[in-house]
Amino acid sequence: MELYLRLLSYLKPYGVRFAVASLFMVAVSATAGAAALIIEPILDNIFMSKDQSSLALLPLGVVVIYLVRGIGRYFASSIMQAIGQLAVRDIRNELFAKLQRLSVGFYQTRQTGQIMSRVTNDVTVVQDAVSIVVYDFIRESLTMIALLGVVLYRDWKMALVAILVIPLSGGLIQRLGRSLRVVAKESQERMADMTAMLHETCSGIRVVQAFGMEDYEIDRFKKGNQEYFETVRRTIVINELSSPLLEFLGAFGIAGIIYYGGSMVMSGETTVGAFFSFLTALFMLYAPISKLSRVNNKIQHAMAAARRIFELMDTPPSITEKPDAVEISPLKRSVEFIDVGFAYDQGKNALSGINLSVKKGEVIALVGPSGAGKTTLVNLIPRFLDATRGAVLIDGVDTRDVTVKSLRAQIGIVTQDVFLFHDTVRNNIAYGRNDADFEQVVSAAKAAYAHEFIVEMPNGYDTVIGERGAKLSGGQRQRISIARAIMKNPAIMILDEATSALDSESEKMVQKALTNLLTGRTTFVIAHRLSTIINADRIIVLNKGSIAQAGSHEELMAAGGLYRRLFESQFAGETPAQGGAALSQMEVE
Ligand SMILES: Nc1ncnc2c1ncn2[C@@H]1O[C@H](COP(=O)(O)OP(=O)(O)O)[C@@H](O)[C@H]1O
Ligand SMILES: [Mg+2]
Repeated sequence: MELYLRLLSYLKPYGVRFAVASLFMVAVSATAGAAALIIEPILDNIFMSKDQSSLALLPLGVVVIYLVRGIGRYFASSIMQAIGQLAVRDIRNELFAKLQRLSVGFYQTRQTGQIMSRVTNDVTVVQDAVSIVVYDFIRESLTMIALLGVVLYRDWKMALVAILVIPLSGGLIQRLGRSLRVVAKESQERMADMTAMLHETCSGIRVVQAFGMEDYEIDRFKKGNQEYFETVRRTIVINELSSPLLEFLGAFGIAGIIYYGGSMVMSGETTVGAFFSFLTALFMLYAPISKLSRVNNKIQHAMAAARRIFELMDTPPSITEKPDAVEISPLKRSVEFIDVGFAYDQGKNALSGINLSVKKGEVIALVGPSGAGKTTLVNLIPRFLDATRGAVLIDGVDTRDVTVKSLRAQIGIVTQDVFLFHDTVRNNIAYGRNDADFEQVVSAAKAAYAHEFIVEMPNGYDTVIGERGAKLSGGQRQRISIARAIMKNPAIMILDEATSALDSESEKMVQKALTNLLTGRTTFVIAHRLSTIINADRIIVLNKGSIAQAGSHEELMAAGGLYRRLFESQFAGETPAQGGAALSQMEVE
């Protein structure tokens, strides 16, 4: 109920339109009553009394009633459906906005397809509840009231006999609704599973095909699809059971009425016309009652979807901004980690006791075995994650006290997996900088050593690159992402294995581009290349979430220990001049 009220609250902005539609609905319902009422004069005046003036008037009356009914239905229905669509549009927008703001951590724990399903499938189901259902519910309820009025007006004693059936059907409707809600929830979940599977296999199609797993995936999908079908079939059974059951119950009422009414007409206590008018109203009552039970079924279905939607909407953001958060001014002095700890899951520290002070302009290389916590550490700076202990300070200010926007505006990130939007090269480079003019884009591309291959593309800077920049090589994609970072011109740069996915030829180009990018910036580089490590101002060696060693290359080599072991296992035979090895890929026991 609470859930439904919340859903209905989305109709609030459209209150005026809703009121207008309701007026039309009242008119429609009134015509149902009028149609039942007019039976009496038709039978009694025309057929029994053979009255000429009634013969002229009553057929006209019927036409007028159905004219009003037609007009009313048209406006009521079209206005209500539009309102429903508007409400659903608002829900969809709100969901999308929510998704844009949920933290990186949220996405790390969920399947993309599952999330997508809520915005697409679940919202579509809810659409029914807020447009058609509200419309049907109001119209049919009003119609029911009008017809009940006629029935009572004609003969209240007879009416009571008929109405006795109603509580019985009410109980039935409720019971069916409950089982329907359970099945509906299940079918939404199955649909989400399928969407997730679809998303996963589309984006991982190369792996699927490389491993010859097409048939396996097809079977897996078929199985999921079959399960979906089974749940939908149960929905159909429950749905379709309700009308016949109600109809059958209704037959008892009607049978009783015919017996009772028939004897009244025979004894002359009532006219044939009045009795048939009563009977017509009673028969007409069947439609709204049965429709209302269908409405109830649809509501149950929609509630399952609404619950999933609101659950997503209510996901507390793990990264929150304080109400009094201030804009942080551009980095002037330092980035500091004060006794920082972080745990993805309680009790298991991915980072602990990190103390690190980085001066403006300093280049810090982070090295360590995979799983040491390097990525986790740098993710704390833009608040993709929040430290569970201690604090990250910029110029002495806790990053949790400033606006997320102003914080992230100073930070550039280049990672191993480049994401390019399905858009032009130009827009991909200027992402986040709508104000940038073309010259700026070109000079960023030049600094990133990307200009040359861009102008060779069919439409130069206006070439649309694929969803994942599929038409570009890994090195080219990386250079576009570097151009994007140069455009942003951040004070702090984070490189997380930016070149580790590249072959040594493209790595050289990317390395040159990175040199341009890093000049004059405070840099955290998760290093994979000997020359980067050696040229860093300071090397931080992470192991099992803690800083094991820190210092320059010479100092650390002289000190022995983990760094030296990493170095020797990784760079045996490699001189700094050659470079090119991937330190990040080392596994150290
Ligand atoms: N999203 C996550 N949920 C739970 N644990 C994670 C998550 N990401 C990383 N970890 C764990 O945290 C530790 C540090 O990971 P990470 O920072 O990615 O290491 P690195 O970048 O040094 O390879 C690892 O033990 C890893 O298993
Ligand atoms: Mg990492």
